[in-house]
Formats: sequence, C-alpha cells, structure tokens
Amino acid sequence: MTRQHIVFLTGAGISAESGLSTFRGKDGLWTKEEFQYFASADCLYYEPEKCLDFYNMRRKKLSEVEPNVAHRLIAELEKEHEMTVITQNVDDLHERAGSTKVIHLHGEMTKVCSSNNRYDPKYIREYPLTTPIKVGDDAGDGSQLRPFIVMFGEYVFGMEVAEEIVKYADIFVVVGTSLMVYPANNLILHAHKEVPKFVIDPGEMPKCDALGYTHFKTTATEGMKQLLEAFKEL
Ligand code: OAD
Repeated sequence: MTRQHIVFLTGAGISAESGLSTFRGKDGLWTKEEFQYFASADCLYYEPEKCLDFYNMRRKKLSEVEPNVAHRLIAELEKEHEMTVITQNVDDLHERAGSTKVIHLHGEMTKVCSSNNRYDPKYIREYPLTTPIKVGDDAGDGSQLRPFIVMFGEYVFGMEVAEEIVKYADIFVVVGTSLMVYPANNLILHAHKEVPKFVIDPGEMPKCDALGYTHFKTTATEGMKQLLEAFKEL
C-alpha cells in the first residue's frame, strides 16, 4: 500500500485491554448512576469535592496503566503513513504509544484548566496524574483548578476540524466506541463513500454496517492485527 492519510476514531474500547473501564459495558463507569453526576458541570459547580474526587480516582488509575498493542500498532503506522487519531478518550495512551497527531474531543486527563474559561490557553497546563486536585486549588485566574475534560452539560470544541479531517481521509478506521455520544458519533457520516472504512469492536455496530464498513468483531488488539492484514490487500 502506498502512503495514505489514515484517520482513526477511537473510544474507550481501545483502552479496555490496558485496564481502563469503558462507560456503557456491563462493568462500565456509567452503570454507577452517581458517577454520571460526578462527571457533570453541575457537580463541579455545586459539589466540587465529589467531582474532583471522581477525576482524581480516574487520574490515579491512568498513572498505573500502559498502552496496549492496539495503541502501539496505530502509532507504528506513522512510519509509513500520514496518521491522525481522533479520540473520545481522555487518557494519554495513544501519545504514550508514540502517536504524534492526536485530537482529544473530550479533553485530556493529564491537563488542568480554569473553571472560568476551560479553553483559555494561559491556564491549560500539564498536571501530575498522582497529585490530587483539591477544592480551593487556584487555576491561576482565581477560579477553581479543574481537569481539562468535557463534562456532561459542556460543549465539545473542535468538531469542525475533526469533520474536515475525516472527510479527506484515504482510509477511516473506528475502534472501540459505542457511537452513542453526540457529536463524535456523527463523524462516521463524514468519511467519503468510496474510501475503505473499517470498524473494530466486539459488539454489534449497526450504524457502521449500514454505511458499508468492514467489521472486525473482536477486541482492539486482535482487530488491529486483522486490520494490518487487510491493509496488505489494498
Ligand atoms: P462506550 O463505553 O460507550 O463504548 C465502548 C465500546 O468499546 C463498546 O462498543 C464496546 O463494545 C467496545 N469494547 C469493549 N471492550 C473492547 C475491547 N477490548 N476492544 C475493542 N472494543 C471494545 O465508550 P465510548 O464510545 O468511548 O464522554 O464513549 C463515548 C463517550 O461517552 C466517552 O468519551 C465519555 C462517555 O460519556 C465523556 O465523558 C465526555
């Protein structure tokens, strides 16, 4: 296969084999109803300790896990192809595996920002995963320091750029996302009709099937190996 622009859209399923929970599976994070509240802008405002504790728990967990073979195989494709990874994940496992062009639609757990203006670059900075963010910590502008994460009730920035990137992909691959969450789930509609499109997920993927995606119905690590075999036929 000659050099291509390959675009991946990834979700929680790609990090499952690293030991991070998905959201909607049997043991998914959102099966605990209070967690959905803790991950909301309302909770951050009215009961910040609960919200920050929830993210401190997830930040600490992230410090204890490693990228898996799926993250690494995606990163390796950069040797031969132009690659963009668009992820809904807030972990940094794609970057740790070596991917250099990663777009985080839902934010990044390794960073903090201001509660007054999430996207003010002056206050977005790296913050150690093992240092808890506490109520009263100053973001730098007098507001509460908070994780640089999109919470329920908050706007997702960057969708237009992501849509353009998907639109001009030579190959588009979806890995480990239930495609239940708007607006990221609509990205699958933007890939060109004629380009090869793949989805790797052990679950049913009716939306992708309807759009003619080749479905590797298996885990991310196994599915990535099958994908690389399929690339040899292109
Ligand atoms: P979900 O939990 O909704 O979906 C996870 C997907 O991963 C499902 O389709 C599973 O079948 C699949 N899966 C499970 N194990 C897998 C494995 N080993 N290999 C590959 N796939 C596997 O997670 P997302 O679709 O990522 O947003 O959720 C999207 C957003 O919903 C998240 O970014 C989060 C959440 O609310 C925010 O917090 C803003």
